[in-house]
Amino acid sequence: MSPVYDQLLRVLRAYLTASNAEGLLLRTTREMDIRPEELSAFHLPRMVPAIERRARLYLDNVRLARLVGEISGFALDRPSRRSRILTVEYEADISIARQTAKAICDAAGGRSFNAHKVATIVSELARNIVAYTPGGTIELEIVRETAACVRISAVDRGSGIAALDDILAGRYRSRTGLGKGIVGVQRLADKFNIHTGPAGTKVEVEVRL
Ligand SMILES: Nc1ncnc2c1ncn2[C@@H]1O[C@H](COP(=O)(O)OP(=O)(O)OP(=O)(O)O)[C@@H](O)[C@H]1O
Ligand SMILES: [Mg+2]
Repeated sequence: MSPVYDQLLRVLRAYLTASNAEGLLLRTTREMDIRPEELSAFHLPRMVPAIERRARLYLDNVRLARLVGEISGFALDRPSRRSRILTVEYEADISIARQTAKAICDAAGGRSFNAHKVATIVSELARNIVAYTPGGTIELEIVRETAACVRISAVDRGSGIAALDDILAGRYRSRTGLGKGIVGVQRLADKFNIHTGPAGTKVEVEVRL
């Protein structure tokens, strides 16, 4: 089950018997064609009215309103808590960035395959900041447009990537690594943008969860 599913179940159990709470949530996700292990905060705006309709069978109006308030607040509340800005300067910051990225994707109900993709992208970008610049930041944000996705923005104060055209064309020979970090990030990303110049580099990536 996804973290969002578990959280909804916890709230429902406070209002219904354990078996009614479980049954109600399973029937609602099935009706909406959502697999319990994939239920994410992105689905909540559609889930809330469907849960309300079913919970009406068990609850009086006062308790029903309280339940709906609780799960709607939970839906509104979550996205803002899932935006983070991480400082990237030292070797140790790379694994922190990687783990944070994975945790944010998991909390948003992302598939584990996609969460790993995001973790790989974040660690490649963080590694480049640590290796080639005096430091920078990586911002992670869950956004919900047509589908839930994570937006990653890596900004540094380095002196830019001189060989960017060769790198993107696959012609670059790295003296410090495999030379596959940036093209790897590009390949894994659903959206990819890079701006570089003498004042630093900004890489913007989006990955669907
Ligand atoms: N943020 C950055 N600022 C300045 N130069 C950078 C930055 N990121 C990468 N570079 C330069 O671009 C080159 C290519 O980066 P890329 O991550 O693709 O490969 P790599 O770091 O050389 O090797 P790999 O990541 O495969 O171990 C690097 O060798 C480095 O010279
Ligand atoms: Mg690299």
